[in-house]
Amino acid sequence: MSSKRQILVTNALPYANAALHLGHILEYTQTDVWVRFQKMRGHECYYVSADDAHGTAIMLKAEEKGISPEQHIDDMLTIHKADFEDFYIGVDNYHSTHSDENKAFSELIYNRLKSNDHIAQRSISQAFDPEKSLFLADRYVKGTCPKCKAEDQYGDNCEACGATYAPVDLVDAVSVISGATPIEKESIHYFFKLPEFTQFLKDWIDTSAVQKEVANKLSEWLDSGLQEWDISRDAPYFGFEIPDAPGKYFYVWLDAPIGYMASFKNLCDKTDLDFDYFWKEDSPTELYHFIGKDIVNFHALFWPAMLKSANYRRPTKVCVHGFVTVNGKKMSKSRGTFINARCYLDYLNPEYLRYYYASKLSGTVEDIDLNLEDFVQKVNSDLVGKVVNIASRCAKFITKGNDGVLSSNIDDQALWNQVSSAADTIATHYENRDFGKAIREIIAQADAANEYIAAQEPWKLNKDESQAQRVQDICSLGINLFRVILTYLKPVLPAMAEAGESFLNDSLTWDSAKSPLLGHRINSFQPLMQRIDKEKVDAMVEASKEELA
Ligand code: MSP
Ligand code: ZN
Repeated sequence: MSSKRQILVTNALPYANAALHLGHILEYTQTDVWVRFQKMRGHECYYVSADDAHGTAIMLKAEEKGISPEQHIDDMLTIHKADFEDFYIGVDNYHSTHSDENKAFSELIYNRLKSNDHIAQRSISQAFDPEKSLFLADRYVKGTCPKCKAEDQYGDNCEACGATYAPVDLVDAVSVISGATPIEKESIHYFFKLPEFTQFLKDWIDTSAVQKEVANKLSEWLDSGLQEWDISRDAPYFGFEIPDAPGKYFYVWLDAPIGYMASFKNLCDKTDLDFDYFWKEDSPTELYHFIGKDIVNFHALFWPAMLKSANYRRPTKVCVHGFVTVNGKKMSKSRGTFINARCYLDYLNPEYLRYYYASKLSGTVEDIDLNLEDFVQKVNSDLVGKVVNIASRCAKFITKGNDGVLSSNIDDQALWNQVSSAADTIATHYENRDFGKAIREIIAQADAANEYIAAQEPWKLNKDESQAQRVQDICSLGINLFRVILTYLKPVLPAMAEAGESFLNDSLTWDSAKSPLLGHRINSFQPLMQRIDKEKVDAMVEASKEELA
């Protein structure tokens, strides 16, 4: 294996205003599988995350619940952490952007941008809710389109005719929050001078920091000219106050990615990890951000430019995934396909979904369809029918016939070599986040193992006393092939792998695939995974419909 890499990995920090749903779980599964794979390969890999706790939406949510924003984000943190844990998302640290570390880094970075003359300041005019005394973002203003007169349109553009305008141009505009008629009001805002980073960003994109499709999109944006980025919001706002600017707060998206650093710093303070070694300008370590396609501008324009100005290292890769659709359509509350992570867990084993998502992920930005029928069929056929089946068919002959001790020879060397040497190809697919290809290759190996067992028919040979050794040899190879396949699946199915490890009386590392267990005692077989019951899936969809009512 190549030398030991040092890798820091993050996922996009979920907003602390809502529960996690199966769309989030796609991203967190993708990140977690990749991290578990790197760890299994013996690399030094850290996975940090946090709740994204700031912004107007969170402030309003707390108000609606009649609690303080601090109480609200504390409650959400507990809920999100439990969802992560129960889906086996093995983060090394889960923090909050509303933390001392994040405040310190946000101020430090802002001060560096400012001293590098990358902050501009000017007055702008915005919609203002006179009743709530609150500036209104475009989505908090609704009214009639000034061009085509379509009613109930948001403050930035018309969904009916596509016209773009300022919120105050709407006819009969109202504040979504209070129903009051917004007025226009001036205030000072702070801007990050993004256009000065145009050439820097072009060069950064050329380092293959993003997928090709993403690079193309970014080039379009860069060619059409970047705008200065408004990084301040007026009080009342739930966030960090800007140094030397009373009543002005950092826009949530300024301190959110800094939350990656803050969570890692929090981990460093609990361990002996060196923060600066990972974040300094010329760090030899790798930094990976996993995100959805809706937040590319924040991660591949603003973030690297901020890091550059503040003299920190840039991401090695920003890995962008597509959106989850369910049964070919956008997740929908009325169809019961907007499924919360907790609701899923109430009905189904998390590893079913981890496996299904892994089998559909390709490392591109294409959307991923969770087709519920295909989900049941695939998991039952691949995992229960193919993978677990290898072990359940062979185990009983070893435990009964040979006191649980595997043969000390390999019955079919060519087959062993084939399954064992698939490790490198599978590793390459995992590394490239092409999990679907990894899974197809793994299942092809499981097919080969099953064909071998079916052809040898140990259950027939077992009737003949003189064939006892043959039966042991066949079933021992079967168990060894199962062990290699389980090794390959371990990043995706950590709990099933753990149960398999106690059955095999062995702990699986990536190198386990290289050498078989010979003359080794295994434990008695326990069913490793149950079939998905289609009725449970239907019940989950029904419950998701009810949650809306
Ligand atoms: N808080 C920001 C991220 C800040 S990162 C410094 C945010 N939060 S989010 O909760 O809206 O989304 C978190 C992640 O989940 C994003 O990467 C987003 O793309 C992803 N997804 C949200 N809905 C999704 C689907 N339906 N499908 C796949 N991923 C989705 O954005
Ligand atoms: Zn219109």
